[in-house]
Order: sequence, then structure tokens, then C-alpha cells
Amino acid sequence: MKDNKLIVKKIEKGTVIDHLRPSTALIILNDILNPEIFSEKIYSVLANVDSSRAHGDGKKDILKIEDVELTPEETNKIALLSPRATINIIKDYEVVEKRQVDLPDEVIGIVRCGNERCITNYRDRYGRKEPIDYKFDVLSKDPVVLRCHYCERKIPEDGKTILDYFV
Ligand code: CTP
Ligand code: ZN
Repeated sequence: MKDNKLIVKKIEKGTVIDHLRPSTALIILNDILNPEIFSEKIYSVLANVDSSRAHGDGKKDILKIEDVELTPEETNKIALLSPRATINIIKDYEVVEKRQVDLPDEVIGIVRCGNERCITNYRDRYGRKEPIDYKFDVLSKDPVVLRCHYCERKIPEDGKTILDYFV
């Protein structure tokens, strides 16, 4: 090992989200996880580090957060952005659980439909949304392709990423 290599220390207890698609760690912190992490938790972000597993150009991001466990909704959002991420649960400095994120066959309420005329996007004249949840069938998990349950529009549309559809 080169002696100028930067080592980010292991965590005692919490969650390590590993094998993240490059450039997604900060998005996950900013847009997906509980903002209390910024003020209350110890966390570290590693971006664009070398990855042994092929991930685009051999790089990955890692996010380590002490004393935090992810909710299923947070895990599904991470799977939408980075389908090959792994979630490691750490206790007493050991990995006690390692799992790959895995989108369910249906994604409900997390991303909106790209079709403005879709029933799920309908607003009444007071701007109130129809009480119909966004619902998508997962056509492909990697790359992520979703199809609206109601109007069959596929997302992401050309030139967009799934992040553009987060509710
Ligand atoms: N890790 C950590 N703190 C710990 C234990 C592990 O920050 N107390 C981190 C490691 O640095 C690594 C990830 O959690 O980024 C997974 O750890 P481990 O399973 O030991 O590494 P690998 O075997 O390389 O994982 P994989 O096979 O998933 O690539
Ligand atoms: Zn739709």
C-alpha cells in the first residue's frame, strides 16, 4: 500500500453504503437521507475511489454513517439511483449484515409520472392533487426503467435521470 493513501476509518456501529455509482453519495445525503444526519451524526463520504468491481470506469462512492439504519423507503430510493449498491450493517466494528439493494417489482409514491396529463398528476382547480399514489412497474432494475401503472409512460425519458422524478 502506498504510504500516502488516505484511509477513512472503520465505523463502530451504523451503516456503510458501498459500491455506489460515482457521484451519487452526496445526492443520497442531500436528497434521500434524513437531514438530521448533517447536524447529529458522524458520517464520511468517499467519492470516486477505485473499485475492484467494474462500475462504469472502475470508480465508486462510499457513504459511512454512524448510528443510522436505513428505512425501506430510503433503501428503495438508493436502489433507483445506484442499483448495485450494497448496504453493510456494522456492529462492534464488524459487518453483521451485507445485502444488495433490490428494488421491489412495484415502486409506489417515490417518483412521479413524466406525463403531465397522467391521472396521478391531476390537480383540481384549488391545486389539490388527486388522491392517487404514483405507481410504477419495474421493467428493468439496472439500468432503472419504470412504467407508470396508469398511463404506461416509461421513465426516465430521454435526457433525464431518475432523480428528476423524485417526489
Ligand atoms: N467498513 C467500515 N467499518 C467497519 C467495517 C466495514 O467502514 N467497522 C466498511 C469497509 O471499509 C467497506 C464496507 O464497510 O467499505 C464493507 O466491508 P467489508 O465487507 O469488510 O469489505 P469487502 O469484503 O471489501 O466488501 P464487498 O465484498 O461488499 O466489496
Ligand atoms: Zn402516468
